[in-house]
Amino acid sequence: MSRIEWFHYSSCISIVAALGVLGCSAPSPGDGIGTADQSLLGDAVPGVDADLLAEARTAFSAVESITDGVGPVFNERACGACHTNGAIGGAGENIERRFGRVANGVFDPLAGAGGSLRQLFSLGNFNNPDLPAASRGRCQPNNPTLCCVATDAEPAQTTVHNVGRLTTPLFGLGLVDAMPDSFFDGLAAAQPAAIRGVVNRVQVLLPNPGDPTQGINSTRVARFGWKAGVATLLQFSADAYLNEMGISTQSCFHGSNLLAFATENAPNAPGGSSLAGCDDLAPLQPDENVASGIPRSTDDAVGPCAGNRTEIQDDVFLFAAFMTTLAPPPRDFSDQISVTRGQPLFTSAGCAGCHVPTTFRTPANPFPVDIDGTGEEVARVPGNFAFNPYSDFLVHDMGSLGDQIGNAGDSVAVTRRMRTAPLWGVRFRNHLLHDGRASDIPTAVRAHDGQGAAARNAFNSLSAANQHNIVQFVRSL
Ligand code: HEC
Ligand code: HEC
Repeated sequence: MSRIEWFHYSSCISIVAALGVLGCSAPSPGDGIGTADQSLLGDAVPGVDADLLAEARTAFSAVESITDGVGPVFNERACGACHTNGAIGGAGENIERRFGRVANGVFDPLAGAGGSLRQLFSLGNFNNPDLPAASRGRCQPNNPTLCCVATDAEPAQTTVHNVGRLTTPLFGLGLVDAMPDSFFDGLAAAQPAAIRGVVNRVQVLLPNPGDPTQGINSTRVARFGWKAGVATLLQFSADAYLNEMGISTQSCFHGSNLLAFATENAPNAPGGSSLAGCDDLAPLQPDENVASGIPRSTDDAVGPCAGNRTEIQDDVFLFAAFMTTLAPPPRDFSDQISVTRGQPLFTSAGCAGCHVPTTFRTPANPFPVDIDGTGEEVARVPGNFAFNPYSDFLVHDMGSLGDQIGNAGDSVAVTRRMRTAPLWGVRFRNHLLHDGRASDIPTAVRAHDGQGAAARNAFNSLSAANQHNIVQFVRSL
């Protein structure tokens, strides 16, 4: 997709003023902060260390192999292989698959049978020179060193089938990570009851050593993923490394061994139960690490955590560092007249109730993502940086648009909750909605249901010209 020309915010204001219309949804110029100078898609926020950025981008794009730990089941071999649209870090073509079961009105992700995420690939058949004698011959009797790893399949008890999850864009998300929980509480409190979103608080499994408010199992507002299930980019990195690529990691946090992402996924099986010797071909952990509680099959470990050690596995840190530095998508005011007409309609139709036009602003001194808490290797976003993602990052009951996937024990109503999709940069996308079913904005709007039904109806009742104006406004974000 080609890059689109944009106006500097000050030109936006002057053109809008020349048309005799007040206001422009961009932050006002002259307030001396961040977003006044727009960057290209994929550029970094101001103030980023160039060396760290280069290293982090390389790590995010690196294609890994079976000897690096890819597998036994996986979806792709690089973060950058899925997050591609427009620039590295973008949305993508890859639509993943989830499944689950509803029994007696309660959701079961079938975690013991490989759910709810179904990995689409496995290592298949491969020679393993280290295969222990006890495992030999299990796949093909004529070749005692041949492993056989099946792919994940939906088990027979599945009732919620083949739910798509589109790859989302990552631009600007470091700024979202820097927002304090209280900000999201404030957004929810300000919403009318009929469309009020739910602040999804979750436990942090991989705390950021640079943020003193995070600890192991501390609570934080989840803001990432289609269902806002994850609270930090650092944890998402370890989660995606394991669940998308099959690369398991161990880290240390103030002397505690972080093993939440250290165990491999096996096809249609709970973590760790792959056929002995039929894991990937990453080197096994040395005895010293195993003695300190690290599984022998963990692909990348920092080692024992004794002595109050804090150290995040370096790839996990670098992925988070890369995402932290990504600037918001640039705005596009080229269709000035429609954009100006569409903005008030976006509000009057009710879109702005969830896709809030609120200007977010990072704290004065945002906590950095820090590999070991010493402040020596960090990725940070600028302080007092204003940005407009056009989302409340809350989850809403979207009725029939809900994807029916949840956590163990969720009611069916909870499985209908989806995070308000941020609308910034939507013009760089070719698929929309959680399963990628829509390829244009009106189709996406017409699928809104539940708490989004009133806005959908308001949109549908507008003239074709005014629907177009809303669409052009959304495409300007
Ligand atoms: C196979 C394709 C694929 C690969 C590989 C992949 N992702 Fe993703 N990514 C996705 C999909 C699909 C989603 C949406 C997941 C969801 O919400 O269920 C996503 C969502 C995310 C999000 C949440 C963004 C948001 O909108 O809140 C982050 C962060 C992320 N990925 C980081 C990574 C990192 C880091 C890696 C590499 C370790 C990675 N991804 C590898 C497909 C991929
Ligand atoms: C009740 C809250 C709510 C309201 C009101 C609402 N939306 Fe949404 N919107 C959402 C949610 C949640 C999603 C993600 C839905 C999904 O894919 O499951 C979404 C998705 C979208 C998408 C697709 C974005 C993407 O990344 O795929 C577009 C475009 C969109 N909304 C535009 C609008 C417009 C225009 C209006 C007003 C007519 C509107 N929305 C009103 C909550 C809302």
